[in-house]
Amino acid sequence: MTTIREQVQAIADEVIEMRRWLHQHAELSFQEEETAGYIEKKLREMEGDLEITRPTPTSVMAVLHTGKPGRTVALRADIDALPIQEPQGLPYASKNDGVMHACGHDGHAAILLGTVKVLLQHRDKLNGEVRFFFQHAEEVPPGGAIEMLQAGVMEGVDEVYGLHLTTTLETGCFGICKGILTSNTDSFTIVVQGKGGHSAMPQLCIDPVIIGGQIITALQTVVSRRMAPDETLALSICRVQSGSAYNIIPNTFEMEGSVRTFSHAAREQVEALIGEIACGIAAANGATVDYRYNKGYDAVDNDPELTDLAAKVIADTFGPGAPTPMDPVMPGEDFGYFSSCCRGFFLELGAASAAKGITAPHHNPAFTFDEDALALGVEYNVSLLLNRME
Ligand code: NI
Repeated sequence: MTTIREQVQAIADEVIEMRRWLHQHAELSFQEEETAGYIEKKLREMEGDLEITRPTPTSVMAVLHTGKPGRTVALRADIDALPIQEPQGLPYASKNDGVMHACGHDGHAAILLGTVKVLLQHRDKLNGEVRFFFQHAEEVPPGGAIEMLQAGVMEGVDEVYGLHLTTTLETGCFGICKGILTSNTDSFTIVVQGKGGHSAMPQLCIDPVIIGGQIITALQTVVSRRMAPDETLALSICRVQSGSAYNIIPNTFEMEGSVRTFSHAAREQVEALIGEIACGIAAANGATVDYRYNKGYDAVDNDPELTDLAAKVIADTFGPGAPTPMDPVMPGEDFGYFSSCCRGFFLELGAASAAKGITAPHHNPAFTFDEDALALGVEYNVSLLLNRME
């Protein structure tokens, strides 16, 4: 009898090949036509009576019905790329100009395809139902997860699992965080409404640039002075826009920023504080503001029991040193929509290799990951599913 590891090794090259095809055909969020087509084709090539559907135009779901009563377990991979120009040099670099898999979602899709392939070899041992979600548009809020949810993919699901490759951990490390793992990812815009005019006659104007500058500076006190020092959060103003010429005081000053928080209370508090500060400063200068706070993805909250269970599967499969405790991370994840429907666990799968020079951060043009992590991801998924469904 072959072991799971041998079964995974037998398809390891194929998983790498699928990852490279997806990498070469990187597509932006909500535009994953070729990607979804390829995934669907690969699934249809697998013998095993999968029910394959498109919950949305560019997402794919495969369902494995065992015909026996048991849990319904879902596994999710995201499949979209980013608007980044990939540097030349990689033999499988993106063919799509200005679009690059710079977050490893090509790897996620390949890992899940490999998982389906190996799991089908264990079909007779399984009970219940497995759903494989190939989710579009993780990178652009409101995101693809919510659309898949609205299409009903989570109805009747008891447990949901997902993973993200990460170059913050070396290959072989399985990053585990019980409870809150990712942040609430929100954004906001503030438009200062002043009164424009000639730069030589400021007394006749209400200069929104000066007011905008004061607001930017004052907003830094939200983190440093208004919130408790042990509350982890980030507030950044990343885009400002105003003016058209050196001698015209403009009418408006616009800024856009992002807020990352881990707790619900902090999220609500920051939303209120930004408004209070911006409106107060504008009022003190005779201006008004239009303030909009946009709630993005909710934090991913790992179920404590499933976290322990996954850690045990990892230790049993890869050795006691493999589970790697980690702190919550700031980047957001729309996996939280799935895990808000039932219990869930999300893994950070190490894919950095200092020895191979693979250390660039996610969303960077130099990003790549260690392909050795792909087989580990497949073996982890299969071991976890067998644990839950045998
Ligand atoms: Ni990502």
